Amino acid sequence: MGKYVIAGNWKMNKTPSEAKALIEEIKPLVKDATCDVIVGVPFVDLQVALEATAGTNIGVAAQNCHWAKSGAFTAEISAEMLKEMGVGYVIIGHSERRQYFGETDVTVNQRVRAALDAGLTVILCVGEYLEQREQGITAEVCAMQTKIALQGVSADEMSRIIIAYEPVWAIGTGRTATAEQANEVCADIRKVIAALYNDAVAAATTIQYGGSMNAGNAAELLAQSDVDGGLIGGASLKAPDFATIVAAAK
Ligand code: 13P
Repeated sequence: MGKYVIAGNWKMNKTPSEAKALIEEIKPLVKDATCDVIVGVPFVDLQVALEATAGTNIGVAAQNCHWAKSGAFTAEISAEMLKEMGVGYVIIGHSERRQYFGETDVTVNQRVRAALDAGLTVILCVGEYLEQREQGITAEVCAMQTKIALQGVSADEMSRIIIAYEPVWAIGTGRTATAEQANEVCADIRKVIAALYNDAVAAATTIQYGGSMNAGNAAELLAQSDVDGGLIGGASLKAPDFATIVAAAK
């Protein structure tokens, strides 16, 4: 399946000096990783993160970008700004953005388009609410989010799309999807990619699981046939735990 990618989503944690210290701690622990390793840091930490990771195997992600190249959008950050800094990745459509900041499938698509146009690689987040899982519409919700987010994205550009399946009920709750649940939805998303593009694109796309992944449960989740990595929140803020998850991604 897709290349293994383990990404930390630090969310709104760590000042620049704290970010530097955490990366310095992570660096030696993941230097022999066989998967791709990414840290997703707050905007103000990007510069120190880029400096601290220069010449290492750790990539740096921003946690969002705007869809316009520039303009009257106070406090927003464009994909081109990130690209010029040297940032390689951007997380788009995280459920916290959708839930608390009015992000919609349409604006997620616009941000994905802008990120690709700027030359960034996207970590696109999709996932259902608990109520939707209970209603039996998980596959439909994830298919809809994936299809809308990928409007206007070519098969070639899919090499710069990583999908993170993050069931909202598992984020920050300590309640992880079972390995079977995670694998089932990741496989469903892969079928959506196959239908939109073709089997080769679907097979090559990295599909991560995210939601209370930690040092204890990562190996089982990552061993699933359709889980190609993880997007890790809380556990990515502890260097040894993050390194254990990276080591589990084989
Ligand atoms: P937790 O690992 O803290 O549950 O967060 C998952 C997440 O939202 C990563 O983007």
